[in-house]
Amino acid sequence: MNRKRPARRPKTTAQEGEAVVHALRTHQVDAIVGERHVSFVRLKQVEFELQNSRDQLRVLATRLELQRESERAEVAREIHDELGQSLTSLELGLAWLKYTVTLTPPVRAKLASMSALVRTTIRSVKQVAIRLRPGVLDELGLVKTLRSEAKAFTEHTGVECRFETNLRSVTCHRAGSIAVFRIVQAALTNVARHAHASRAVIGLMRRRNDLVVTVKDNGRGIARTLVAKPGACGVIGMRERALTLDGTLVLAGARGKGTTLTVRVPLSRVLITRGAALAP
Ligand SMILES: Nc1ncnc2c1ncn2[C@@H]1O[C@H](COP(=O)(O)OP(=O)(O)OP(=O)(O)O)[C@@H](O)[C@H]1O
Ligand SMILES: [Mg+2]
Repeated sequence: MNRKRPARRPKTTAQEGEAVVHALRTHQVDAIVGERHVSFVRLKQVEFELQNSRDQLRVLATRLELQRESERAEVAREIHDELGQSLTSLELGLAWLKYTVTLTPPVRAKLASMSALVRTTIRSVKQVAIRLRPGVLDELGLVKTLRSEAKAFTEHTGVECRFETNLRSVTCHRAGSIAVFRIVQAALTNVARHAHASRAVIGLMRRRNDLVVTVKDNGRGIARTLVAKPGACGVIGMRERALTLDGTLVLAGARGKGTTLTVRVPLSRVLITRGAALAP
């Protein structure tokens, strides 16, 4: 029987083989490149949207910040004017009683202690008003205000606080200096409340084109998990303020070795350049 031989498949030449491999490869490469291109475009889109929402957030934070400051100024004015006035009248009234009425010794002693209490309250009210509206910033400028804040902190808390700077004099934008001042204030409050520290240092340094603000303490060290503690507004507020200046905030602690807050902002967002003289 004459079995029919299967038709022989034409042999693929080496050249043809290479052509097939090449076609396959380029096809695959095209697919990969195509996929990558799509991913790249998507990535760019997401990046753009992220930048956009960051910008919006910054504008919002700045607006909120200005509103908060103006509300604070109003409260400060009311506390100072209304409460201050009333307390001063009370003090004068007590003095009048002391000199116009004949008093028995116990009543005189009581009156003296009441006068002392009123004087202390007047001082406290002034302190509260100053804290609410840092008018000293306008008068003294950022460097001197931070130096006096360090001194006041030591007096109030007993924690030795130093101020270091490599800037001799600076002329700041008002919004910039208020933001830096409020960040330092909040950080110092945290040192007093949470750190159990014996020393703290406030730093205001010019590093190339940045202004670097630091608050360091030698206390127990902030735990990593507490840097973003839910419900605690201090760190969030500080970060927001840094953001309004296009800056960054890093809070780092080592157990038993203290905590360091570092805020880095572009110099141009805080300083009016001609005043940014470095200390000799
Ligand atoms: N210098 C510090 N040393 C040790 N722990 C700190 C320090 N600063 C902050 N912490 C910890 O981080 C937490 C978050 O601080 P944050 O300022 O956000 O909130 P708070 O001080 O608890 O409350 P708020 O500031 O809203 O009144 C604090 O509760 C505290 O446990
Ligand atoms: Mg706090």
